Amino acid sequence: MGNCSSAKLLARGIETIRISRRFASDNDVTLFPGDAQTLLDAMPERSVQLVVTSPPYNIGKAYERKKKTSVDEYVTQQRATIMRCAALLKPGGSICWQIGNHVSDNEVYPIDIMLYPVFRELGLVLRNRIVWHFEHGLHCARRFSGRYETILWFTWPGRAYAFDVDPIRVAQKYPGKKYFKGPKAGQYSANPLGKNPGDVWIIPNVKHNHVEKTAHPCQFPVELIERLILALTKKNDLVLDPFAGAGTAAVAAVLHGRRAAGAEVVPEYVRIARRRLIAAANGTLRTRPRERPVYAPSGSIAVPPWDTVR
Ligand SMILES: C[S@@+](CC[C@H](N)C(=O)[O-])C[C@H]1O[C@@H](n2cnc3c(N)ncnc32)[C@H](O)[C@@H]1O
Repeated sequence: MGNCSSAKLLARGIETIRISRRFASDNDVTLFPGDAQTLLDAMPERSVQLVVTSPPYNIGKAYERKKKTSVDEYVTQQRATIMRCAALLKPGGSICWQIGNHVSDNEVYPIDIMLYPVFRELGLVLRNRIVWHFEHGLHCARRFSGRYETILWFTWPGRAYAFDVDPIRVAQKYPGKKYFKGPKAGQYSANPLGKNPGDVWIIPNVKHNHVEKTAHPCQFPVELIERLILALTKKNDLVLDPFAGAGTAAVAAVLHGRRAAGAEVVPEYVRIARRRLIAAANGTLRTRPRERPVYAPSGSIAVPPWDTVR
């Protein structure tokens, strides 16, 4: 297979990107149509800057003994994938595991809490537990409707991990506010580039008539992954999503000049991901407009990096 099955694409009329099924370090995008573990085993250790994924929640029904076994089995399966992802991670790299609750018979299983010890056992350190809040979802009759999921962001210990908040700053509430007195009088009191977006991200989920909606039932919004890619990686870094679905992580990587690798077992989703990657590369992919640009008070050095990329 290799390059025989790859597609050469024109990205924004400047660069050529290549989508391959089989992993090679110099691929722009690897889209492996099969089991995640097979792709992960084919990749070299310490090669990935960012693992970002939303794993399947294939936990069985919550009945007595079976319930316990099934949850334990799930954690065991996930441990195997997480262990391999940790082995693939570069020293300054990040793992972002995006997870919601699994609900069975009206019992809520907090999957991030169940998986946190797995990351800790591997020596990874939690930097943020980001709450992703959205408005669309099932309306519950016997509990409060679920309106958030989380992203667990891990790195290796120490301070030498990549993190740059500047490309993802959001508008200040009072951008023109200045120091009234003291040595900084007259200077802006808030960072004119915008503020740190914090750890609660309000981004619509991809439902109904969302412009990014495909046939995949639970795809990431592009904006969610863009934030992570822009803050945690640099151009040409490798971004990995072992459970690629409709390929959103790879799409966000391509939009920002990063390399990507992903695996997906369902052929229809692989086709969707491929189509989206082609559209991302040639500039025709429709995405939801992002957070309004950072306000630039006159005389400030404000740069709206969020809006210059597209
Ligand atoms: C929660 S969805 C991910 C959606 C993705 N984040 C997106 O933006 O479209 C999980 C995906 O993992 C896929 N999957 C499940 N088991 C897998 C495996 N062992 N290897 C690869 N993909 C798998 C499912 O088919 C599903 O598309």
